[in-house]
Amino acid sequence: MEDRVIRWGIIGAGGAARRFAEGLRDVSGATLCAVWSRRRETSASLVELFGGNISESLNELLASEIDAVYVGTLPDSHAAYSIAALQAGKHVLCEKPVTLDTEQLEQVIQTARTLGLLFMEAMKPPFYPLYKRLRAHLAGDPMGEVRFVRAGYATSNVPREHPSWQLETGGGSLMGIGVYQAFLAADWLGEAQQVQTLGRLSTRGVDAFAMFQTQHRDGFAQMYSGLDLSGPGDAVLVGADGHVTIAAPWWNPVRATVSYADGRVVLLDEPMSGSGFQYETAHFCGLIRLGQLESPVLPHALSLAVMRILDRARTAIR
Ligand SMILES: NC(=O)c1ccc[n+]([C@@H]2O[C@H](COP(=O)([O-])OP(=O)(O)OC[C@H]3O[C@@H](n4cnc5c(N)ncnc54)[C@H](OP(=O)(O)O)[C@@H]3O)[C@@H](O)[C@H]2O)c1
Repeated sequence: MEDRVIRWGIIGAGGAARRFAEGLRDVSGATLCAVWSRRRETSASLVELFGGNISESLNELLASEIDAVYVGTLPDSHAAYSIAALQAGKHVLCEKPVTLDTEQLEQVIQTARTLGLLFMEAMKPPFYPLYKRLRAHLAGDPMGEVRFVRAGYATSNVPREHPSWQLETGGGSLMGIGVYQAFLAADWLGEAQQVQTLGRLSTRGVDAFAMFQTQHRDGFAQMYSGLDLSGPGDAVLVGADGHVTIAAPWWNPVRATVSYADGRVVLLDEPMSGSGFQYETAHFCGLIRLGQLESPVLPHALSLAVMRILDRARTAIR
């Protein structure tokens, strides 16, 4: 089964789905078979560029001969489409933020477990070559356990018609951008025990800016996200014997500097290629071939830890 070709279907044919389809071309042993979106023309333009067939309905897509589904719609429909795909017997890779809240995520995970299918959030950073190299580097040349994480990003380039400004579809800076920062905190520090948040809502009720800090068993994180300010998107990981700076945009990580307390500075440089989506997709295809139901890099518990931070931060400033 090692060289089994993984056949993919896509639900939702927007910007992220395009980058997924572009990335899929760089994944060996994977092929795009079917695309369904609400509007036929968006499916058609994706199929024209990247191949596969247009499905005329969700049912047609789910009944087609595919192994896995990429859910690239907006967050308010992630849970429903993930569950529908799982119930149709397909493995699911679902865009970030993986659901609207923890309760929905628990339902999706429960469905995947019950049906014995693979489910993973499409959270790209840990699959980038730089991120993997950084982990390997710190294992071989340690700077002490990471005890403090600082990360954030704000962009004022978000047009007013962008879904990030829509409350109903799961918009807001925390869901769109803060999710990456929460991931970084949870990935290095584990589950958050406390979340403190300050923020500002837009007139349409989404958080236009949020700063949030978390306390974990062995450390702390300070984060921010914004839709109407321009802030740098670098990240810092701090240990007893040094710190790492991951260059902006850190969630597409290609460069990091490890600065040791003894004065040594190590530069890590791992350029990305293509759309960057191919790394997580190749990992996901590998898990299917191995019959694994959960990623060891991005386990369900990690997605849940991220979602719990977002739930608490969003509730605090609602
Ligand atoms: N991993 C990354 O680097 C990355 C980058 C960008 C975005 N994202 C994530 O990807 C997701 C999509 O973002 P995007 O930028 O691609 O948005 P987008 O360009 O607006 O595309 C969203 C797509 O989903 C479809 N859609 C939305 N709601 C739907 C529903 N209820 N049922 C069926 N189709 C629906 C839209 O259809 P219509 O055309 O009919 O509206 C559109 O095709 C978000 O969760 C976002 O956070 C991830």
